[in-house]
Amino acid sequence: MSRYHETYAAWKQDPAGFWAGAAGGVDWVKPWTDVYARVDGLDRWFVGAELNTCWNAVDRHVKAGNGERLAVIYDSPITGAKATYTYNQLLDEVATLAAALEDLGVRKGDRIILYMPMIPQALFAMLACARLGAIHSVVFGGFAPPELATRINDSKPKVIMTASCGIEPGRVIAYKPLLDQALDIAAHKVEACVVFQREQVQAELKTGRDHDWDGICHVARGFGRKADCVPVKATDPLYILYTSGTTGQPKGVVRDNGGHAVAMKWSMDNVYDIKPGEVFWAASDVGWVVGHSYIVYAPLLQGATTIVFEGKPVGTPDAGTFWRVIADYGVSALFTAPTAFRAIRKEDPDGNFIGKYDLTSLRTLFLAGERADPDTVKWAEEMLKVPVIDHWWQTETGWAIAGNPVGLGMLPVKHGSPTVAMPGYDIQVLDEGGHEVPRGTLGAICVKLPLPPSCLPTLWNNDERFRKSYLSHFPGYYETADAGYMDEDGYLYIMARTDDIINVAGHRLSTGGMEEVLAGHPNVAETAVIGIADQLKGQVPVGFVVLKSGVARPAAEIESECVKRIREKIGAVAALKTVVVVPRLPKTRSGKILRATMRKIADKEEFKTPATIDDPAILDEIRAALGSKGIGV
Ligand code: COA
Ligand code: AMP
Repeated sequence: MSRYHETYAAWKQDPAGFWAGAAGGVDWVKPWTDVYARVDGLDRWFVGAELNTCWNAVDRHVKAGNGERLAVIYDSPITGAKATYTYNQLLDEVATLAAALEDLGVRKGDRIILYMPMIPQALFAMLACARLGAIHSVVFGGFAPPELATRINDSKPKVIMTASCGIEPGRVIAYKPLLDQALDIAAHKVEACVVFQREQVQAELKTGRDHDWDGICHVARGFGRKADCVPVKATDPLYILYTSGTTGQPKGVVRDNGGHAVAMKWSMDNVYDIKPGEVFWAASDVGWVVGHSYIVYAPLLQGATTIVFEGKPVGTPDAGTFWRVIADYGVSALFTAPTAFRAIRKEDPDGNFIGKYDLTSLRTLFLAGERADPDTVKWAEEMLKVPVIDHWWQTETGWAIAGNPVGLGMLPVKHGSPTVAMPGYDIQVLDEGGHEVPRGTLGAICVKLPLPPSCLPTLWNNDERFRKSYLSHFPGYYETADAGYMDEDGYLYIMARTDDIINVAGHRLSTGGMEEVLAGHPNVAETAVIGIADQLKGQVPVGFVVLKSGVARPAAEIESECVKRIREKIGAVAALKTVVVVPRLPKTRSGKILRATMRKIADKEEFKTPATIDDPAILDEIRAALGSKGIGV
């Protein structure tokens, strides 16, 4: 029997009491005056309390006598490197790096951008920032210099930390030239850059500004310097994580220290059922929210062992890599995006690699980041013979909004549903007028305010955008921008985004942002970018461009320049491979581009020609243009 229903009811009856109870799992320097309060018009948790997140993630396990327990396992099939760090070693690395950052003048409240590949140093840097009360902002390595520059201008970091390179299958990506370009573009000037030199690439360091990572740590070590944990307010930001919004300007999601630590700890016990000392593996990247929450903070707050995996589910070297890692380290639970499983299934449909490894340690597979299609879930269940748990959340929340809480006793799995609302979330499906729709009816999925601990209290330096983006459409609710429905048993079904965000291989991208970049091409008059269905990545973007009158250059040339432009301005991660020149875009008579209709043509879905369309003949032009690229045929 699952204890979910009684737990959810207990939360609903006494939210403050519920979260105060959960907060017992965290060490506090100073207790709170209010578990929850509205401060300056924002919902805040553990008001008045002080703590240090790094203390909770590292020091306290050492203090409790568990210093010899493994904290971090690094496994890089892409380079062949492997390493392990006990909690004692992690503390040494983090406290030393924090001291070196202190020597560079980093203090509580300063922002630090991290542009890092999947190496343990990325975790050390995040924790070193947390130790000093500095606010880290990790930028995913697949983003190009202009995206990095946007984040530099918005968060105004004192220091940027990076590595000499990231490594993708078949290519080494030198990060330092990308960082230098970003710094050239950015209006904000940083005082210092710290560069971790990897053996594959030796980055050039600029005298005065750039510091060698090992070098500054060596100096701190030489003086025996280790930084202490700096107490911060529970409501002080731990990090800013930029995520795609509806324009090219990303949203700086703020995560505070107190609520985050409480929710992370609660989720490890109750959602993932991971005990201290067990191995938890989130096969994601520290540049995404899954990486922040479940590669770094939650497993370490729990005193568990986390894995830093620098590789891909396929091709590094084969579709058996995941199983090899599980077998080698005795992984209890794996968390990844459904795309990874679609990639593995494509290479190894009969699961031949699975049979080669001892997977007895694996109890559960968790999927999130994009819709888990029932086909993939069923395949994973059949192959692994463990429960496959879909759960739904967002960068904004930092942890599951809906899930199947294994630690409370699993609820029956329904394929296609991430199961039920987690305590803290009063999920309601609303119609345009803000009224709850009947069960089974599609609507906007919203959360009745206040949001629970860990969820964003606001956007960095932009309360106004926070309110406008999330709270204004449905007063009294947080708008998730996901559409879907709830069935009679309270199970949720997440069907689509209601905005122009698309989800490519579990990566969240803004089509609006891509349109802005395409519109910047000198020959382009108008653009539309839509996400079309893709068997592997879930969705991929496709761009349409209308040329300025008088442009007589070959369409193919402009199309490939547009593809290149997205890669240079947003990054490879945008995965825009198809841009097509069209004579005009389908619009309503009031001038609104009919993106949904274009998407249906591409996906070969049935559609009714919108009554308000300006000229229905344009749809045939779009069909022909897509057909010329082999799409929608
Ligand atoms: N640094 C630089 N470039 C990166 C990068 C990084 N950290 N991560 C991805 N890229 C590049 C890729 O090399 C690729 O470049 P290409 O166009 O030259 O091939 C491009 O960005 C697109 O990446 P991706 O969409 O991930 O496609 P892929 O073909 O490289 O890999 C999968 C496909 C399915 C194997 C991969 O997406 C994957 O492992 N997904 C698992 C899910 C996941 O990690 N989700 C994250 C959120 S939970
Ligand atoms: P991100 O902020 O990158 O985590 O992306 C959040 C978005 O990904 C959500 O708003 C959903 O659109 C989508 N998403 C995440 N998890 C799921 C899931 N389990 N099922 C369906 N969609 C999901």
